[in-house]
Amino acid sequence: MTTRTYKNDNIEVHWDSSRCVHVAACIRALPDVFNPLDRPWIHLDRADADTVAAAIEHCPTGALRYTRPDGSTELASNPTTIVLVEDGPLVVRGDLHLTDANGETIIRESRLALCRCGGSENRPYCDGTHRRIGFRSTTIPIDSITRDNATNPTDIEPPQTASFDPNAAPLPLPNAED
Ligand code: SF4
Ligand code: FES
Repeated sequence: MTTRTYKNDNIEVHWDSSRCVHVAACIRALPDVFNPLDRPWIHLDRADADTVAAAIEHCPTGALRYTRPDGSTELASNPTTIVLVEDGPLVVRGDLHLTDANGETIIRESRLALCRCGGSENRPYCDGTHRRIGFRSTTIPIDSITRDNATNPTDIEPPQTASFDPNAAPLPLPNAED
């Protein structure tokens, strides 16, 4: 993770380059403030803090975040939404608790873009690799047996290499206290 911070008296902006996939939502929302041709590329003196905050909330990946002088930040959207971007990532918004398989919190966020092409070098986050590898999100039908004809769960899945362990611990549920 490489995060740069930009601030003035009214807002502090954090940009995590490892999660920026350059879809330019920030630039389209407020081109005077977010100009990738400049160094530094963020000019907080060119708009009031509320306008900057509203533009940041357009960033689908969470690469851009902000805090205000009183420590507040954006409110997580409710309900949580998941958008299947065609040939791209899952764009998720809400009060997000991303955990590993052991239930350990990886990150708490209000915006995330999660890789579904499998090619990202920054998994679980999308890093834009889906464009380079030509990922297509169309469903590949499983034609060995249709779900209508299934008589038990093993009919549905293609042959599995791992055997089912009835003693395996259940997957953890998100901890509301995190
Ligand atoms: S909107 Fe977010 S992901 Fe897109 S270019 Fe701006 S910072 Fe990067
Ligand atoms: S979906 Fe974007 S890198 Fe995988």
